[in-house]
Amino acid sequence: RIAYVNGRYVPHRSAKVHVEDRGYQFADGVYEVCEVFCGRLVDETRHLDRLDRSLSELRIAAPMGRKALLTVMRETVARNRVRNGLVYVQISRGVARRDHPFPDPAPVPAVVVTAKSLDPRAGEKLAQAGAAVITTPEIRWARPDIKSVALLPNVLAKQQAREAGAREAWFVDPDGTVLEGASTNAWIVTHDGTIVTRQADRRILRGVTRAGVIDALARRNLRLEERAFTVEEAKAAAEAFITSASSLVIPVVRIDGTPVGDGKPGPVALALRAALHDVTE
Ligand code: PDD
Repeated sequence: RIAYVNGRYVPHRSAKVHVEDRGYQFADGVYEVCEVFCGRLVDETRHLDRLDRSLSELRIAAPMGRKALLTVMRETVARNRVRNGLVYVQISRGVARRDHPFPDPAPVPAVVVTAKSLDPRAGEKLAQAGAAVITTPEIRWARPDIKSVALLPNVLAKQQAREAGAREAWFVDPDGTVLEGASTNAWIVTHDGTIVTRQADRRILRGVTRAGVIDALARRNLRLEERAFTVEEAKAAAEAFITSASSLVIPVVRIDGTPVGDGKPGPVALALRAALHDVTE
């Protein structure tokens, strides 16, 4: 495997960042995960728009132009012969002697791009089986809309899910409403067929896959409500599902052990999953 690190393509096993990289010391950096489908980047414009926004919220200057970054992403995909999989892009504020405020002058941001292959059949199998989710109190900072590499609460939530035999953990506000998953956006389908997902304010990440699903809903004239929903409402819903660039749409079949609907993947979720890759739409 090959990784791109600060202007060079290097063997993945020897790809390294500096010990004083602020991404490493302070989680002072941002990232994107972009899907590769049939050799092409999926929704790259939305990913690059969100990356620009994350960088500007943290006042990190873009280390290279969008076109150059896109070229690096495509080149990394090509050098790793990825047809289906993921590209990971991470940009940190750069390398400087450890001190909390922004270094002055600003260091050159550190850029890492990696790519890996995934077997599409594994994703399909998971979608057909459906996923269990657990719920966990929101313990993240107030700006999860910024796709920063500060993912410790997400790591802990995912581990909690794994230990409970579940695939995802939903962060829940003190008022009982679902925010989002540790690495996915959360959705329900009501018994009258309305599709509900939380409004994308500063409390959640505005998912690229979320936007793709909203486009697919519009094409089908399906009803969408962007609003908060409670754990109780989700447990009693007709369907639930989760979305991300790495897993697309995965039906949720259990929430904290309670079956959703008939406990099997729902037709709306599976149709939306198929719609994401339907190039004829
Ligand atoms: N996770 N919410 C959170 C907290 C996320 O980390 C992600 C993405 C999403 C879904 O966003 P998108 O549809 O743009 O992938 C929602 C990536 C895949 C990850 O951390 O691996």
